[in-house]
Amino acid sequence: MEMIKQERSSELLEAEAHIWNQVFIYINSMSLKCAVELGIPEIIHKHGRPMTLTELVDALPGVDRAKADHVHRLMRTLVHSGFFVSEKMDPSDEQGYLLTPASRLLMGDHPMSMKAFVLSQLDSTITGPWQHLSGWFQNNEDRTAFHATHGMSLWEQKEQNPRFGHLFDQGMGNDATIVANVITRDCREVFEGLGSLVDVGGGTGTLAKAIAVAHPQIHCTVLDLAPVVAGLEGTRNLKYMEGDMFRFFPSSDAVLLKWIMHDWSDEECVQILKKCKEALTSNQRAKVIIIEKVVDDHKSDHKSVETQFCFDMLMMTVVGGKERKENEWANLFTVAGFSSYKISTLLGLRSIIEVFLDCI
Ligand SMILES: C[S@@+](CC[C@H](N)C(=O)[O-])C[C@H]1O[C@@H](n2cnc3c(N)ncnc32)[C@H](O)[C@@H]1O
Repeated sequence: MEMIKQERSSELLEAEAHIWNQVFIYINSMSLKCAVELGIPEIIHKHGRPMTLTELVDALPGVDRAKADHVHRLMRTLVHSGFFVSEKMDPSDEQGYLLTPASRLLMGDHPMSMKAFVLSQLDSTITGPWQHLSGWFQNNEDRTAFHATHGMSLWEQKEQNPRFGHLFDQGMGNDATIVANVITRDCREVFEGLGSLVDVGGGTGTLAKAIAVAHPQIHCTVLDLAPVVAGLEGTRNLKYMEGDMFRFFPSSDAVLLKWIMHDWSDEECVQILKKCKEALTSNQRAKVIIIEKVVDDHKSDHKSVETQFCFDMLMMTVVGGKERKENEWANLFTVAGFSSYKISTLLGLRSIIEVFLDCI
């Protein structure tokens, strides 16, 4: 009897602890945002050696020494979540902070910086709609909780709020830089034999620019909404085009869709794929190149499954899209009239899906 009581108590306390953990997990994200806004990664990097708490507080612009203990608590959280390490320094035995591979990517001037991505995705424009999610489930008026909150789509909001719009585009550019780095080195065969490529919803053109440099024979076009591409200058083999992907995009050997399909419903994706079909030339290697997740919820790695589900919830809440499993992708391709596809998993949590009109 005593044993059962004890087991029940520990189960109860474990359940409560699980709730605490999940309720307060957003504090990790907000602490990260705070450190990025304060420029802590840049300050520690500039210091060039492990940085003591006192040195860090003194270097933080506008932060009073009276806040030293608060800075220590912020750093303790971020050491725990893997963004900094704290190690004993010789000969003083004091602790000094160092960067980790993840916080190196949070420096604004790092060539693969993710700073704008962090700041844009944790901007209140994106986090606000989560407060309205249950209300959205109960009404049938709005496409998304984002729409219920802001009264407009994400794309309209970007146009109305240029500060956020610019930050969002920069954040997308951060991710495109990392993807460009990998695909121009490790996936060259994907682009072989192509003479032209249109990057639909290509943002400010970070990925297309890298492809145009790595494959000078490919004439690249970046198609996006007017506020995103207005005033951007092309190069010898890259040009920008304003337009709505649901209306028209130019004829090309390849259509590139990176982080586009997950923004849209199945019906809208089929519309986009049919536009791709119309736009593809008769080049034997003509194809659609999709860079997205292929959801695999049987992965043994708990963290990557969690990341996939977070992205899926984000798409539902912010744009009304979804992340898809392989059979869902295959279904879209068949309905849109494509015959075959090939998935390469060279991009970590994302894949490159090449979609063909003919059987391969
Ligand atoms: C999630 S972002 C991806 C940007 C870029 N492909 C990347 O991965 O870095 C989606 C892009 O689609 C663009 N977009 C949204 N609706 C569009 C439309 N109807 N026509 C053309 N582009 C559109 C947005 O402006 C934005 O640049």
